[in-house]
Amino acid sequence: MDNFTFYSPTYFVFGKDEENNVSEYIKKFNGNRVLIHYGGGSVIKSGLLDRIKASLDSEKTEYHLLGGVKPNPRSGLVYEGIEICKDKNIDFILAVGGGSVIDSAKAIAAGALYSGDFWDFYQNTPVTEALPIGTVLTISAAGSEGSGNTVITNENGMYKRGAKGDCLRPKFSIINPDLQKTLPAYQTACGITDMLAHLYERYLTNTKEVEVTDRLIEALMLTIIHEGPRVVKNPDNYDARANLAWAGMMAHNNSCGVGRSQDWASHKIEHELSALYDCAHGAGLAVVMPAVFKYNLKHDINRFAQLAVRVWGCSMDFYNPENTALEGIERLRDFLISIGMPYNFETLGAKEEDIPKLAHTACYGDVNKGTVGGFVPLGEDDVKKIYYMML
Ligand code: NZQ
Ligand code: ZN
Repeated sequence: MDNFTFYSPTYFVFGKDEENNVSEYIKKFNGNRVLIHYGGGSVIKSGLLDRIKASLDSEKTEYHLLGGVKPNPRSGLVYEGIEICKDKNIDFILAVGGGSVIDSAKAIAAGALYSGDFWDFYQNTPVTEALPIGTVLTISAAGSEGSGNTVITNENGMYKRGAKGDCLRPKFSIINPDLQKTLPAYQTACGITDMLAHLYERYLTNTKEVEVTDRLIEALMLTIIHEGPRVVKNPDNYDARANLAWAGMMAHNNSCGVGRSQDWASHKIEHELSALYDCAHGAGLAVVMPAVFKYNLKHDINRFAQLAVRVWGCSMDFYNPENTALEGIERLRDFLISIGMPYNFETLGAKEEDIPKLAHTACYGDVNKGTVGGFVPLGEDDVKKIYYMML
């Protein structure tokens, strides 16, 4: 196992109706002038935003509103949010929504205390200082409620990049699985896919002897594979949603990624797709993952075969473990299709003629350094071949 540090200071508040106490947690973390950030309207329709406002009103907490975050959140709204923070002297940002809203809030939080262009943080400048943020989560997927990461699409070129810093980890996150009952089945399935991807990206490691994190990842995957379809089928199943929601947080706060090298090739290859076609991140991953895994299979057949046996219930072919490894990837693909995910370029809405450009941007766009992935470093030609495998 590699050396590591792990700092995960988020105060989690889990369960029914907890969002009604949001002002208590804002006070706990010294918020007095709050920016409430939200998305395209689901929180208005469900009445959640009104309940949040009522909670802040009850404590006479000053707040300002900034809605309109789109899925695959854009840089334009971040600049707007930074201006509001500076103008109104905001000292706390409350994100009410999913990964897109939380990521936009993190970008604003970092940009509000920075004299330069916030985009510098998405070009490898480390984030060392940010306004405190809290979240009220409405979709379990990206894991941003427990992570120190944020992903934003730059509208000047439509490319997607990430930034990170421990100061971006939310001070508190309220996770009420009931709030997710209004999600369309497709969005729930995208979330399930993203959670699994966060676990695969960590499972595919070159570090030896990482039994504890291997086993944690396997347990989370088994839970997601069990609970995911139950929630897609019955959106009102509170307990299944609750298990899924906590698994989604644990999949990405890095408790099961410490002490080991990680991959992230699938995410890098997917981010080009959601930036260009504005598809859901999880849907893109459903198409990307089987292709990347098949391409990388020979790098460590035993690792793929181990996962196939322990998680996907395959029997080990001791004469040819590659068969087992491949069967595990096919079972993942079948599972994703069974919950309604796309399975190729066409069903995702991507175009073959864009492949050279997608592969080039993934490897060389902006500050990229020529390869993607920590498991197998993939160059432009490899990435191109992988995109062609998705046709
Ligand atoms: O905008 P509204 O109207 O709220 O609708 C949203 C949106 O259309 C809707 N929704 C959310 N909660 C709902 C709901 N509809 C009905 N009822 C509810 N309770 O769902 C749609 C998708 O929301 P979004 O926030 O985009 O989803 P998700 O949480 O999957 O976030 C995706 C973003 O996170 C990034 C992705 O790249 C993508 O931009 N990621 C962030 C990560 C991180 N910060 O650590 C890691 C991930 O790998 C990922 O890259
Ligand atoms: Zn993801």
